[in-house]
Amino acid sequence: MRKKFVAGNWKMHGSLPGNAELLRGVRAGVAGLSIDIAVCVPYPYLAQTGEALKGSNVAWGAQDVSEHAQGAYTGEVSAAMLVEFGCQYAIVGHSERRTYYGDTDAVVAAKCEAALKAGLLPILCVGETLDERERNVTAAVVTRQLDAFIARCGVAALANSVIAYEPVWAIGTGRTASPEQAQEVHALIRARVARESAAVAAGLRILYGGSMKPGNAKELMAQPDIDGGLIGGAALVAADFVAICAAAQ
Ligand code: PGA
Repeated sequence: MRKKFVAGNWKMHGSLPGNAELLRGVRAGVAGLSIDIAVCVPYPYLAQTGEALKGSNVAWGAQDVSEHAQGAYTGEVSAAMLVEFGCQYAIVGHSERRTYYGDTDAVVAAKCEAALKAGLLPILCVGETLDERERNVTAAVVTRQLDAFIARCGVAALANSVIAYEPVWAIGTGRTASPEQAQEVHALIRARVARESAAVAAGLRILYGGSMKPGNAKELMAQPDIDGGLIGGAALVAADFVAICAAAQ
């Protein structure tokens, strides 16, 4: 039985006083839950987040990571730096990174490799655009994104990784994939991994992301291959994030 995992993706939101309140609310609200929980915050807030969550059942992580270990890469942050700040996770290949910052499949795979080498668990995001869904190439797109990871890191690395299926058309739009639509892609991802290793596939956690809310979380996570959620907007409201975690329990 795979343990459910709910991760928050704050994106570029937050402020020191606002975070303090949000983190306090999350920490108190999820105390006692036995699922895995994490919040992925902007880099400058990692120290604050670590302080606020120390000793709790909520882990923390970043929203990206450099593919390089160190060097002349102005503006970048290495996996080793994230580990120094107590991160367990790094989101990699979010569609916003792919779309606005040119993260290709190859770069995303290299970033995952850098994260894994440093002992971070990458949360690898995959997902199709609306245009790709309408052209019926969802399976091809998601498989291509996943295969780039497998080619670079090897299938065994998925034992130390998490996948998030995030249909781009569902992110921040209020338009959630139906449980059946999401399950279909989750099953496809697991089947693709099972072709390489049945054991890795059986243990792999595949999160759904894209307008997951307290009102739809339970139904989505009841699907056999949906092992949790990657939560954007609803992760900025403590009560909503806590309710999604409780629904996963
Ligand atoms: P959303 O974002 O929950 O606001 O749709 C999810 C994500 O982009 O990770």
